[in-house]
Amino acid sequence: MKTLIDEQELARGVARMAEEIRQRYGDQPLLVIGVLTGGLMLLCDLVRRLEMPLRLAVIRASSYRGEMQRGVLKLTEDSLPEVAGEHVLLVDDIFDTGHTLDALIRTMRERGATSVASAVLLEKSGTCQVEMKPDFRGFVIPDVFVVGYGLDYRDRFRNLPFVAILEPGDLES
Ligand code: IMP
Ligand code: MG
Repeated sequence: MKTLIDEQELARGVARMAEEIRQRYGDQPLLVIGVLTGGLMLLCDLVRRLEMPLRLAVIRASSYRGEMQRGVLKLTEDSLPEVAGEHVLLVDDIFDTGHTLDALIRTMRERGATSVASAVLLEKSGTCQVEMKPDFRGFVIPDVFVVGYGLDYRDRFRNLPFVAILEPGDLES
């Protein structure tokens, strides 16, 4: 497996994002919503660096169903937290086509959030299919399939502390 972003770089990227978020919101209270399951690592590392009043929630949205091809977004509606009147920050692992975050942002707005922004660890270049872009992002990467730091292939590899490019030989073990 080929490392794309190592632990030290990840930590620096997350710290940079936290600083940008802090500058954007100041002391305004935030509702930070992590997108399960891939967004968990970033969620944990990011909120520990946000020295501001915030509440935490998680939401389940899956589009890949563990495969390497793009699929249809599934939102588990009953897991949606109350967002009316809140400044919402969605935290996800990666912005690929953008359909996941686009759909989530629309849903949060429909439900009366005061503002909705998004933070992702990675943004793939050249794969966006929607009109929006994430407000905060750690790294831009090429259009390759990556795993680690929350990102999976069939629910595996999420626990790697770095981001790696998945190669065919990695799937045999
Ligand atoms: P989007 O809706 O196409 O932007 O896809 C977002 C979701 O697809 C992410 O939350 C990931 O779960 C998944 N995804 C996209 N690219 C990758 C990848 O390279 N590795 C693992 N998961 C990915
Ligand atoms: Mg995901």
